[in-house]
Amino acid sequence: MDFIGANILSVSQFERADIDRVFGVADTMGPYARREKVTRVLEGAILGNMFLEPSTRTRLSFGAAFNLLGGMVRETVGITASAMAKGESLYDTARVLSGYSDIICMRHPQAGSVAEFAAASRVPVINGGDGANEHPTQALLDLYTIRKELAGKGRALDDFRIAMIGDLKHGRTVHSLCKLLCLFEKVQLTFISPPELAMPDAVVEQLRAAGHQVTVTDQLEASIAHVDIVYSTRIQEERFASQEEANLYRGRFRLNREIFTRHCEPNTVIMHPLPRDSRAEANELDTDLNEHPSLAIFRQTDNGLLVRMALFAMLLGVEGDVDKYARPV
Ligand code: CP
Repeated sequence: MDFIGANILSVSQFERADIDRVFGVADTMGPYARREKVTRVLEGAILGNMFLEPSTRTRLSFGAAFNLLGGMVRETVGITASAMAKGESLYDTARVLSGYSDIICMRHPQAGSVAEFAAASRVPVINGGDGANEHPTQALLDLYTIRKELAGKGRALDDFRIAMIGDLKHGRTVHSLCKLLCLFEKVQLTFISPPELAMPDAVVEQLRAAGHQVTVTDQLEASIAHVDIVYSTRIQEERFASQEEANLYRGRFRLNREIFTRHCEPNTVIMHPLPRDSRAEANELDTDLNEHPSLAIFRQTDNGLLVRMALFAMLLGVEGDVDKYARPV
């Protein structure tokens, strides 16, 4: 795809060569993310960062990535802080905000809303999560992390085993990651969830059509025994009709040090898109794994910065100029 000026709305728009390009640029961003070098390549550019649902890492890492490339960030946080609370449409909001920004990142509670916004925008729009639909940059950073973690074990993206655990019905990160995995070969996927929160059939069918082996189960312990990656997810309570309904599923699949040590191969990588739900009744990924070398969750968040820096540079057509505007700290 041609990245310059493009929207990033869904992982479906990527081909494998596009992923390789994004990861190649992300690999060059390390010295800037670590503050070993400073670049002003986006000096004068403005990111409109519009988050109409709660977020910590997506919003802040988009902002930090833009700042690290020398640009400025203008934020709208929460629907009540925007004129949408007074009934303004997505169309009008997009027309206005895109007049003040060079690029926009947006999170919205409704599936399809970011695409609707992007259709009216005069600048590129990146989907920071639209309802239960997609979270394309999370999928990219997850895949980038999987690639790095597998490389550390002499493995590659074309032959690995992953178990996804939790609320696979509402989790947009797993939907996007699965679609991205269709670009690769010989991936064995195990989906572990209560039957009511199973991975949507359309995603399972897409994976099988891509030639992948897919197992659907509600048995945790037997299913995490022979995988390279366990990818835990939270019960997405904001997508349920009531708190009571979400509570029915909280705490059903918990991964802790004891379960991990007893059932997983020792070098199995532990991932989670975060936030993890640390409340006692949920606790799907226990803090007793915090110091475990297999826990990759904060390597994921660090990688998110690199991938988002790469996307900004590519969408704004400056990927070749980052070093030209660099100086050592
Ligand atoms: N992974 C993720 O989307 O986290 P935030 O909700 O904090 O952005």
